[in-house]
Amino acid sequence: MTFTLRWGIIATGGISTKFAEDLFIDPATRESDVAHKIAAVGSRSVASAQKFIDRLQSNPSPNQWGEVGWNAWGLEHGVLDGAKAYGSYDEVFADANVDAVYIGTPHTFHHANAKAALLAGKHVLCEKPFTFDLEELDELIKIAKEKNLFLMEAVWTRFHPIAYALQDLLKSGRLGKIKRMSADFSMNFEPDTRPDSNRMVDPEQGGGSLLDQGPYPSVWAMLALHQHPDNTDSDPRVVASYQKVYERSGVDAASTWVVSWKDFADATLVTDMTASGFNDACAVITCEEADVALAYPPWRPERFTIVPHASFEPGSIKERETNEFPATKAGGGMHYEADEVARCIRDGKTESERMPLAESRITQRWLDDVRKAGGTVLKDRKSTVGQ
Ligand SMILES: NC(=O)c1ccc[n+]([C@@H]2O[C@H](COP(=O)([O-])OP(=O)(O)OC[C@H]3O[C@@H](n4cnc5c(N)ncnc54)[C@H](OP(=O)(O)O)[C@@H]3O)[C@@H](O)[C@H]2O)c1
Repeated sequence: MTFTLRWGIIATGGISTKFAEDLFIDPATRESDVAHKIAAVGSRSVASAQKFIDRLQSNPSPNQWGEVGWNAWGLEHGVLDGAKAYGSYDEVFADANVDAVYIGTPHTFHHANAKAALLAGKHVLCEKPFTFDLEELDELIKIAKEKNLFLMEAVWTRFHPIAYALQDLLKSGRLGKIKRMSADFSMNFEPDTRPDSNRMVDPEQGGGSLLDQGPYPSVWAMLALHQHPDNTDSDPRVVASYQKVYERSGVDAASTWVVSWKDFADATLVTDMTASGFNDACAVITCEEADVALAYPPWRPERFTIVPHASFEPGSIKERETNEFPATKAGGGMHYEADEVARCIRDGKTESERMPLAESRITQRWLDDVRKAGGTVLKDRKSTVGQ
């Protein structure tokens, strides 16, 4: 019988909506061997939790990908049967019908929410950035290990077909050795038009570009460089960084940092919440024989192009080659990470080999180092461990 993971979703904001929608997608569109069910939704108000469930239950407007009737398969197959609406997150953690909790609250709440879920005996999938800082993450890892529970950062992009294809290309040796890379998540959130309470603007919610956007250039550096067989450095560190302050609230408008993998390669990583991203490339990996450019957006690219070097500095690759890798046949692509969680829990694993906790620790440390070296209001903010 197919293993079914029973989810409790906490928070009813933007990303929880997308995650929940993807649980309704027919697994046949992605060769899945697990199933999902939404057992409970928790919100700061019960009305909001009920509204979230009602929208999934009704015949709503097209989903974020313009798909009409996206919930039909899920409704037919009981994804929402018996789902409970709660006016608190704690009630979700206490629900015996919930196996795993998805955390879709703002960054600065991830630690407290994930800790409470783990202490209540639930497996956890937590949105990025995992926590505000490494100290918070280490406490979660400790609790998860002690209680033998699954814990993972929700870096959904790692599970997309293009992520595997890019790694296969880089490992194949066709492009020669990797020399260096850059990756950039810029997107104009137009912060000046947002209220002070907006999570990109508000320091209390960990606002600014670094914590929100930073996980995405990081994911490409981790996949392309860190996981490359030529890399022997298990602890790549930030060697230079700069943050541009968004004066209105003191968070960062943009951040740039360089990470070095000793005896291998360096990555220059950029985030910016005030400028649009470059459509043709959100990451460029420079190799001996050619470059690889990954098309925007960094959270869900669907195309990369192998670009020959300039004629005065030729590599062995002479022709430009574009390769398409649709993120998914239906839905947004968050179902891959949900499947990974279900598979791991079914198999008794406490972490994912594709998204290991050690790699979350590395990128969390980068965010800490850039923030602490910068001049924003979050520079000296303490972790919530022990509070
Ligand atoms: N993986 C991705 O691609 C992706 C994309 C976007 C965001 N994210 C991550 O997901 C998290 C949430 O982002 P989002 O865009 O979904 O945010 P959002 O739309 O603002 O939703 C956040 C939700 O958190 C809950 N919440 C609890 N305490 C809150 C507080 N003090 N102020 C505001 N909201 C509070 C609210 O839900 P209730 O009222 O129901 O409790 C709110 O709807 C962030 O950490 C972000 O980095 C990930």
